[in-house]
Amino acid sequence: MGRDTLSVVDNRTGSSYELPIEHGCIRATDLGKIKVDDQDVGLRSYDPASGNTAACKSRITYIDGDAGVLRYRGYDIEELAERSSYLEVAYLIVKGELPTASHFAMWRHNIKMHTLVHENVKRFVEGFRYDAHPMGLLVGTVGALSTFYPEAKNIHDEESRRMQTRRLVGKIPTIAAMAYRHSRGLPFVLPDNELSYSGNFLSMLFKMTELKYRPDPVLEHALDLLFILHADHEQNCSSTAARVVGSSLADPYSVVAAAAAALSGPRHGGANEDVVRMLREIGSVDEIPALIKEVKSGERRLMGFGHRVYKNYDPRARIIKQLAYQVFEVTGKNPIIDVALELERIALEDDYFHSRRLYPNVDFYSGIIYEAMGFPLEMFPVLFAIARTSGWVAQWAEMLQDEEQRIVRPRQIYLGAAERRYVPLDQRPEVGPLEFELRGPL
Ligand code: CMC
Repeated sequence: MGRDTLSVVDNRTGSSYELPIEHGCIRATDLGKIKVDDQDVGLRSYDPASGNTAACKSRITYIDGDAGVLRYRGYDIEELAERSSYLEVAYLIVKGELPTASHFAMWRHNIKMHTLVHENVKRFVEGFRYDAHPMGLLVGTVGALSTFYPEAKNIHDEESRRMQTRRLVGKIPTIAAMAYRHSRGLPFVLPDNELSYSGNFLSMLFKMTELKYRPDPVLEHALDLLFILHADHEQNCSSTAARVVGSSLADPYSVVAAAAAALSGPRHGGANEDVVRMLREIGSVDEIPALIKEVKSGERRLMGFGHRVYKNYDPRARIIKQLAYQVFEVTGKNPIIDVALELERIALEDDYFHSRRLYPNVDFYSGIIYEAMGFPLEMFPVLFAIARTSGWVAQWAEMLQDEEQRIVRPRQIYLGAAERRYVPLDQRPEVGPLEFELRGPL
């Protein structure tokens, strides 16, 4: 009996099995060897929401949720936040190493060569209703890019993958800015490649009639830092969506659109919108106990708190909290920060949160900064999506090059009806009340 094995005795048959353990995991397919008889399909593991299942081997991002550690390709997030830039971090995430000076210059040049979008993309965006949620617009428009670049389906061609990576990282801020300008009825602003990645994004968002938009350096740096913090987060819901869709060998625009769709939900990238709504609703520190009571009775969740992996303070939240004050020096203080700070203090002292190890996550303070910078709430998840694009592309490319990966196809436990016979419509007895449709707008 080797040390790195798991001994299993099947009490149904009395048989025993040795399952190899590698990297702290058994292979779920090894469970399939455990059978009652030859007709048995074998034992399976049941893990809804993949709470304890490793779906891949990855070399991109490391998280120690208990210690509150986050590293991209081995580099601590704190060090990257202090010393790097988003474009450099994107290179690191996508290519695996920090670039040399010449490789970085080339990468930046290559990304900037892809900041423009086809004129028909503009028309496509104009087709959305004036009040379209920018996240829906982003998902639709990124998906539509696959029709502009049909060669992107050559996913096994490394050169094609590189090209689509540059296009995605280059164009996503342009599309995001178009979503914002469309909602405001403002003309689209062409990219300004003399500016930094985040500076150009600010220009495409906020430039009015001035000939040259000059971003405030503090805000430009703050946005860049927020992009660094959101660039990747290992096998989260949206990266998993990217891998699942990518496993069918779909093109990378469809992959990133699917990932962005997963990000849009309030349990994921949509949470920062809800945090600000919640803080506005609380309004003053006096109202916090009433909210805590509602949360503890299970009526609602404390948005921006809790994480599947972090059972400690999210290191990104710590950095963002400090950043908030730098931003307020320029924008003026966002008054909801006081409510947030007090809410955090009260929650961290409360046994409900303590016993469940619920701490502020990345979304708790990011929305407060975005709001101070002038972004409408609906843009918050879009900002997340810009940053996370490098992570999605890296996860997708890693999946494609992993020989163990095949099309994702989980099993199920079927609990539905056993075999039954079709009854013609006119012979079926009436059951239950009819479901009337309440007519709304077309
Ligand atoms: N407020 C109140 N209770 C909570 C919260 C919360 N924010 N989060 C978890 N819990 C409770 C939950 O009710 C459960 O309690 P009990 O054991 O009594 O049933 C326990 O903690 C475990 O919760 P869970 O739902 O099993 O945890 P999960 O790992 O499935 O969910 C989460 C993780 C992030 C979806 C969840 O914590 C949550 O909904 N948080 C609020 C939304 C949010 O801030 N999301 C952003 C996540 S970070 C950025 C990102 O990844 O996009």
